[in-house]
Amino acid sequence: MVCLGNICRSPLAEGILKSKVFSKKTYVDSAGTAAYHSGEKPDRRSISIAKNYGIDISSQKARKFQVEDYDKFDFIYVMDNSNYENVIALARNKSDEEKVKLILNEIFPGENLDVPDPYYGGDSGFKNVYKMLDEACDVIVKKIS
Ligand code: 4NP
Repeated sequence: MVCLGNICRSPLAEGILKSKVFSKKTYVDSAGTAAYHSGEKPDRRSISIAKNYGIDISSQKARKFQVEDYDKFDFIYVMDNSNYENVIALARNKSDEEKVKLILNEIFPGENLDVPDPYYGGDSGFKNVYKMLDEACDVIVKKIS
């Protein structure tokens, strides 16, 4: 799960998907395309909305997306079109490129919609993001299990 800062959207996506995946063979992680917040825990508003839904994301630590992630993961879900461009720019070949998917295309196929960045907004933006990611992760979990 990839966003810009790895403190708002992708930590939520990681926590939500982990809560739905019960196979120990499935490894879920998140990263940001920028390193501004590397080593930090998720934004308190993401921690809070996840907690409201029974998910604890407080021990996650932000990290930057690395080219090696292409070797470690089968699917790379990005939150918006800007993340898509930044992640695709690191792809080494067609196989890498094919791993990268806009997460909202799982619920709105082909529409290339962005998960809005809630960082500069209020708490309602985080609830909205949570709901979108929850729906998308329901589809993802069916595909990967
Ligand atoms: P995220 O949100 O990409 O969902 O983690 C952001 C977090 C921090 C910043 C931008 C977006 N920032 O500019 O610091």
